[in-house]
Amino acid sequence: MGFDTMNVSIVPGSFDPVTNGHLDIIKRTAQLFDVVYVSILSNSTKSPLFSVEERIELIQRVTKEFPNVKVEGFAGLLVDYARQKGAKFIVKGLRAVTDFEYEFQMSLTNKQLAPEIETFFITTSSKYAYLSSSLVKEVSKYCGDISQMVPHEIIEDIERKIGGRYDGNFKDY
Ligand code: PNS
Repeated sequence: MGFDTMNVSIVPGSFDPVTNGHLDIIKRTAQLFDVVYVSILSNSTKSPLFSVEERIELIQRVTKEFPNVKVEGFAGLLVDYARQKGAKFIVKGLRAVTDFEYEFQMSLTNKQLAPEIETFFITTSSKYAYLSSSLVKEVSKYCGDISQMVPHEIIEDIERKIGGRYDGNFKDY
């Protein structure tokens, strides 16, 4: 077997918005594969804070130093999209035991649909184990400090969208 086959992987998710935890997984995946597609589900029933186009731009902004990272939206089944991209690997971050059951179920479903595609799990760095996009939105809504939670390049976009702005002071509600 030659070495000329590119290893293509997909890091899928909602990324609404991308957090430091996501970015940690994306960067570590970028070191393992030739090409990494960060792929944003666009047909979610949830009403998102950022549109898919906005999320693509935010992720592109924080991954620009990684030339092998490409950011795209996708609709439909993840395995169909992965096949279309020639990707044999799906990479997911696992924060805690609570993530496991859902991720396990998804990976087995994807395996049944597309046996040639493997799902890899990367353990989140412990400092980001508590993080989620919903938590970021909740903290920002009440004007809390999100600077440890998301890349600094996108703090203003989130605060502008949510309407909460951290001013360094404790809020006395
Ligand atoms: O960030 P999220 O919300 O945990 O991401 C979930 C995502 C987008 C990876 C998952 O919902 C997905 O793959 N959706 C595409 C539809 C699909 O393929 N479903 C069958 C696999 S369970």
